[in-house]
Amino acid sequence: MSWLTGRIVENRVWTDTLFSLRVESPALAFQAGQFVRIALDVEGERVARAFSFVNPPEDPVLEFYGVIVPGGPLSPRLARLRAGDALYVASNPAGFLVLREVPDARTLWLLSTGTGIAPFLSILRTEAPWQRFREVVLVHAVRHARELAYRDMISALQEQRGPALRYVTFASREAAPGSLAGRIPAAIGDGRLEAAAGARFSAETSQVLLCGNPDMLKDAGAALAARGLRKHRRRAPGHVTTESFW
Ligand SMILES: Cc1cc2nc3c(=O)[nH]c(=O)nc-3n(C[C@H](O)[C@H](O)[C@H](O)COP(=O)(O)OP(=O)(O)OC[C@H]3O[C@@H](n4cnc5c(N)ncnc54)[C@H](O)[C@@H]3O)c2cc1C
Ligand SMILES: NC(=O)c1ccc[n+]([C@@H]2O[C@H](COP(=O)([O-])OP(=O)(O)OC[C@H]3O[C@@H](n4cnc5c(N)ncnc54)[C@H](OP(=O)(O)O)[C@@H]3O)[C@@H](O)[C@H]2O)c1
Repeated sequence: MSWLTGRIVENRVWTDTLFSLRVESPALAFQAGQFVRIALDVEGERVARAFSFVNPPEDPVLEFYGVIVPGGPLSPRLARLRAGDALYVASNPAGFLVLREVPDARTLWLLSTGTGIAPFLSILRTEAPWQRFREVVLVHAVRHARELAYRDMISALQEQRGPALRYVTFASREAAPGSLAGRIPAAIGDGRLEAAAGARFSAETSQVLLCGNPDMLKDAGAALAARGLRKHRRRAPGHVTTESFW
């Protein structure tokens, strides 16, 4: 592994804690859904963290979506970057949250919390989901509705893909028109998520990708297991593929 030197093209600020970095860097080969380590030098030490690509693989400008974790070694510094600043990008993207690892199905569910929506935005801007699944349900769960980033991009995808793309949002810490209340696992359990999506969770027809908060992965995995969906493994094909952000 070596480090490439990228340059910030834009730091898009969504809220006081959420930002997206667009980065010019030497070409990198990766699959939609993968991540790469990005780094800054802090007091003489290189501090690196994994970030999922938001951009699809053919886009020459890399994009990363981040949240400021108060007191975190890297994220507050990333949020302060401006156009022209340097950012190191590792030369070896990796990760298994990719459609190549996912069996065929009728419905592809993409369930995310917070910045966990990032890899799904990359996947949705490739052709594979639209060729392989009849419908795709993108679910984004955040604390406050103002954190529902990338709505412009998602609206454009909905225009392009019509009813094949369903978009369901959750706001857990305020009542927000148009968003479900509470958390994803409870809404799997009581049927609210399926009702909002107009699609069903079933072992015969569904593949589910989960990304973000590890507690959501655990709790949603349990709610899905109660519906007969089990973890997908290469050697024991199932229905649920996960990526934990911490
Ligand atoms: C495979 C993978 C992909 C990732 N992709 C992204 C991404 O696309 N965008 C992104 O913002 N982060 C992503 N992360 C998390 C990222 O690597 C860092 O942990 C995060 O940016 C915080 O870095 P830090 O050095 O400030 O704090 P850290 O010391 O790394 O984290 C401190 C604590 O902050 C919390 N935390 C970390 N990341 C998040 C998060 N994303 N949302 C909410 N709470 C968090 C956890 O409680 C963690 O223990 C990913 C992690 C992994 C393993
Ligand atoms: N978002 C903010 O307003 C804010 C502001 C300042 C700092 N921060 C910091 O930023 C970091 C990331 O915050 P974040 O809001 O992006 O991520 P987060 O804490 O992972 O929350 C994102 C969503 O995941 C939900 N969630 C948490 N545990 C779950 C579980 N077990 N099952 C299902 N859903 C679950 C949350 O619901 P609940 O709301 O019910 O937990 C919320 O809707 C944290 O370190 C935080 O301290 C956030």
